[in-house]
Amino acid sequence: MAERDPWWRDAVVYQVYIRSFADGDGDGIGDIAGIRRRLPYLRDLGVDAVWINPWYPSPMVDGGYDVADYRDIDPLFGSLADAEAFLAEAHESGIRVLLDLVPNHTSDRHPWFEAALAAAPGSRERSRYIFRDGRGPGGSEPPTDWPAVFGGPAWTRITEPDGRPGQWYLHLFAPEQPDLDWSDPEVGDEFESILRFWYERGADGFRIDVAHGLVKDPAFPDLGRGRPSTGDQPSPYWDREGVHDIYRRWRSVADEYGDRPFVAEVFVPTAERLARYVRPDELHTAFDFRFLLAGWDAGALRTAIDDSLRALEPVGAPATWVLSNHDQVRHATRFGREVVAGRSGETDRRQVDPGTPDLVLGRRRARAALLLMLALPGCVYLYQGEELGLEEVLDLPEDVLQDPIWLRSGHRIRGRDGCRVPLPWSGAASPFGFGPPGSTPWLPQPAAWRSRTVEAQTGVAGSFLELYRSALRLRREHPGFRGNGMAWLRGPASVLHFDRPGGLEVVVNFGPDPVDLPIGGPHVLLSSEPLTEDGRLPADTAAWLA
Ligand code: GLC
Repeated sequence: MAERDPWWRDAVVYQVYIRSFADGDGDGIGDIAGIRRRLPYLRDLGVDAVWINPWYPSPMVDGGYDVADYRDIDPLFGSLADAEAFLAEAHESGIRVLLDLVPNHTSDRHPWFEAALAAAPGSRERSRYIFRDGRGPGGSEPPTDWPAVFGGPAWTRITEPDGRPGQWYLHLFAPEQPDLDWSDPEVGDEFESILRFWYERGADGFRIDVAHGLVKDPAFPDLGRGRPSTGDQPSPYWDREGVHDIYRRWRSVADEYGDRPFVAEVFVPTAERLARYVRPDELHTAFDFRFLLAGWDAGALRTAIDDSLRALEPVGAPATWVLSNHDQVRHATRFGREVVAGRSGETDRRQVDPGTPDLVLGRRRARAALLLMLALPGCVYLYQGEELGLEEVLDLPEDVLQDPIWLRSGHRIRGRDGCRVPLPWSGAASPFGFGPPGSTPWLPQPAAWRSRTVEAQTGVAGSFLELYRSALRLRREHPGFRGNGMAWLRGPASVLHFDRPGGLEVVVNFGPDPVDLPIGGPHVLLSSEPLTEDGRLPADTAAWLA
């Protein structure tokens, strides 16, 4: 008999956005103490692993994606000793832990960048980042026309130590996130050492931030007017050939420690480009955001699924499915809009679609989408709060918004805070058990979340949370989910119908009317809504049959 696949090939990973998961010390910000207290919840939910968003010391200009020290914990979240205790406790609970590695840029408060600012042009210190002289009279114009993902130009001019206007440095994101120069060997050595530091403390793997961005075209060409910053190939900074050498090195380091998977955040135009990141000697897995971006559309989802599986087959990597994360509008909201297209690419992804979402519809579709996603071969990422049916909070007051997109867009784009509102655990009013009574969460929680708390949904038949628990239990235990691959079965265009080699059969109805389930054969293991009285599958509903 073949050996069981490594755990990560079909894992369910739960994303913990640490600031908003659970607040142990009452300062309004989630922390390691909070996660430790909620480990039993994660164990009972039935996830295999958690991915923790950056928890390192950071000025928090971009929610911790501006790292000042890669080998410690920000005091907001706890200490290194807390992190080690958490890793040990998670492992005792049978939960693995993936950390978030941010290799494209550091914080501008990282000692390397501070040293670079204090040093002279052309110095060793500057060579770890991307400093260039400006163009035009007195070097007063940026070296290239590249835009920053969060708005404005991707270059900022510094004042030299002698007080004169000086060089420019590259930042594909906020000015407080200077891009590292991966052509400098010291950068590669440093990240190898960071990987080892956390592996030795028990990290089970890493999510890689902006994995497609590390290598820049050394010629620094202009994009030219009117060209988008993503999508068209080749880009002078996205998805360049050189990134693959970096990941080959990382893979050989990871392999020294056993089964410790990487999952890459990669935005590339095609599934084929994505598959290049997960060739056998590179990363283990990479998010395919085409599934997330497809919206509630049978054809688009089927295409996304087919593309992903087809492209990954030759390299032997499992698919990685996800419906929501800390950068995207929560899918209960996206699916409740008439036009449900998601974000496309990096630049426009947070422009909230106009129109008030129909959350009853959105949640119904979100439940069906869960059963679709969990039935696909490969691994699955869940974003904290989706198991409660949480929606995007669209009406946060402007004065609480913290996402740098809000600032950098000149207050035109509200940004991603609406999917980062602290979780409701219990009780009838904020802080809903997120923190101790009387504490004030860093973003205000909607009063309506009193009916969406973990407490309010636990043990309630048909609740979101119980659907997640039942679905995760079945996916783990039922033989129907075993085996790789899937095959589409015939049906109308508004129905997705497929089976898995283990015997599971899946029907998802995207159309407006109920549809018949296969008769005489398999029986219903689970459905996202009750069937009609005559045993048919209603609109916007999914069923698992075996
Ligand atoms: C990734 C992260 C996002 C962050 C950005 C810059 O896209 O998911 O939250 O703002 O990288 O690090």
